[in-house]
Amino acid sequence: MTTYAEIYAGWKADPEAFWMEAAEAVDWIEKPTRALDDSAAPFYRWFADGVCNTCWNAVDRHVEAGRGNQPAIIHDSPITGTKHVVTYAELRDRVASLAGALKAKGVAKGDRVIIYMPMVPEAVEAMLACARIGAIHSVVFGGFAAHELAVRIDDATPKAIIAASCGLEPGRVVHYKPLIDAAIEQSKHKPDFCVILQREQEVAKMIEGRDFDWHGFQYGVEPAACEPVGGADPLYILYTSGTTGQPKGVLRPNAGHMVALLWTMRNIYDIAPGEVFWAASDVGWVVGHSYIVYAPLLLGATTIVFEGKPVGTPDAGTFWRVISEHGVKALFTAPTAFRAIKRDDPKGEYVSKYPMPSLKTLFLAGERADPATIEWAEQQLKVPVIDHWWQTETGYAIAANPVGIELMPVKLGSPTVAMPGYDVRILDEAGHEVPRGTLGAIAVKLPLPPGTLPTLWNADDRFKKSYLTTFPGYYETGDAGMMDDDGYLYIMARTDDVINVAGHRLSTGAMEEVLASHPDVAECAVIGVADDLKGQLPMGFLCLNKGCNRPHDEIVKECVKLVRDEIGPVAAFKLATVVDRLPKTRSGKILRATMVKIANGDDVKTPATIDDPVILDEIRGALTGLGYPAAG
Ligand code: COA
Ligand code: AMP
Repeated sequence: MTTYAEIYAGWKADPEAFWMEAAEAVDWIEKPTRALDDSAAPFYRWFADGVCNTCWNAVDRHVEAGRGNQPAIIHDSPITGTKHVVTYAELRDRVASLAGALKAKGVAKGDRVIIYMPMVPEAVEAMLACARIGAIHSVVFGGFAAHELAVRIDDATPKAIIAASCGLEPGRVVHYKPLIDAAIEQSKHKPDFCVILQREQEVAKMIEGRDFDWHGFQYGVEPAACEPVGGADPLYILYTSGTTGQPKGVLRPNAGHMVALLWTMRNIYDIAPGEVFWAASDVGWVVGHSYIVYAPLLLGATTIVFEGKPVGTPDAGTFWRVISEHGVKALFTAPTAFRAIKRDDPKGEYVSKYPMPSLKTLFLAGERADPATIEWAEQQLKVPVIDHWWQTETGYAIAANPVGIELMPVKLGSPTVAMPGYDVRILDEAGHEVPRGTLGAIAVKLPLPPGTLPTLWNADDRFKKSYLTTFPGYYETGDAGMMDDDGYLYIMARTDDVINVAGHRLSTGAMEEVLASHPDVAECAVIGVADDLKGQLPMGFLCLNKGCNRPHDEIVKECVKLVRDEIGPVAAFKLATVVDRLPKTRSGKILRATMVKIANGDDVKTPATIDDPVILDEIRGALTGLGYPAAG
């Protein structure tokens, strides 16, 4: 049996050979002659002289290989009470038809298309239709509001927007169409047209000449064939939070993405063609892109598109029902989903109601997996629970337990070891490696492996500044942590102002920008405080303009609404308070980390650089008013 250590060493000894061999899993129109092209370093390109098509590899080739009648997608929606199956043959026909209609309306290779859709198969079809004709999709998560959508429209300058009339949250219809209309109104760039999937729950009002009905739009068009694209051509842009209100457009190239995802499906997730894989995330996040859509379909597996929540749709047994009913082999979700289930069903009474003989592994990612949650999941499901660590930028795991190669001993609190392609180092502030067991910044030696971001959309300088400047020769992950003597990684915290709320990556900087736009707010700070369910919650501190004598609770309410309206409900911004001053260093830097410690009830040493230590007592007082530090 080959071990992880052998495979990792094999990659390190000859990365070129490793990736060329992995590339054999892809159907090429023209085979690449080499894996890495570093001629434009630090903008690395993989399989750049290969010619391929991602949609062909994810759909058509499985039909050609005799999998036409196999389910490609199982849509399970406890919110609408419906389930249906899309086979590979049906998926091919539906995608080819939508792609043909887009093409007929002038969408061509390299054009951008924004997709704003809930968890319905049509969202997957829209992504694949773009891939089929070489258009670049950019999916925007449904929980973002009009302003966030407008920012993405202006950055990606899409030719078209594909959307649904609505999304469905428990007890609430999310009206997408007014959000799209408002976003297009706000944005400088105007897309040529919109395609709207009218759902039963809401029929959206269309704008004549600009909006087209999903079905009518495809009527009578010629289905599109798969367009040959260059290996390094972009497949998609996915925006993610940085330190400012301007999100980063992470670019994903076609070929490296296919090669890497196929490698992970077999070697990390231990999935074979025909098996059922379920990533309980959303197509708006990177987990959804990689493991709801592309990886399972590239492999010829069956993917589950789940429109629901871990609890409340209708109960904490939903996940077990889906696994039991559809024969899921591996479930991938965020730890917060398990914390929610555990809170509703601590004894796991629902677990015993659903036999789950198919389930072999549970994978967790998106935020730190706390040991208590892992232990509870292990006890309930009696399968290995695998934490793995990755980012939108990489598109797949940097560190994982490669179950398909060997199940390595699980160490609670560690996402296990670096995957082939990633030479992970822990660095001090000066960029020197620290001894094993010592905390530092986590960096990856360049080049990053295939499928990771080659740059940011239209922002080469920002790419270099954000990731490559602090530690020359390395990619800066933005995470801090350590490595133990066995090479196991521990991911402890972010080194920037990014917070993680229910597995969703959010920017406190973006929230501060919104709060600062309130007419009564002179200055503000947003921090992430620990939360038992969501991991972290954003909390705002507001300093008001001199002379403002309006009631504070009124201003707080307006600020909460402002963040919800501008960024969206997903920000979960509900905690805010008014303070006289913010604690700062003598050079004027807000001491956010100190505020976080006070809120979490951790030991706080007054920073030597603080301008006025008394302000910390004022912050303590304000936090007490909000119920922090929380009991327990
Ligand atoms: N469209 C519109 N609104 C959305 C949305 C969407 N796609 N997804 C979430 N929202 C809204 C919710 O309705 C909620 O609004 P509210 O303030 O009116 O209640 C808000 O955004 C926060 O949503 P969420 O983070 O889902 O919190 P919740 O309290 O509704 O549920 C959990 C808590 C733990 C059940 C939920 O966060 C969860 O399932 N997490 C799994 C995490 C995950 O899949 N992460 C992806 C990375 S792997
Ligand atoms: P995203 O780009 O939304 O996937 O968020 C990536 C960030 O989430 C990482 O940089 C980490 O801060 C955090 N993260 C993801 N997975 C893990 C994990 N397994 N353990 C700890 N943090 C994680």
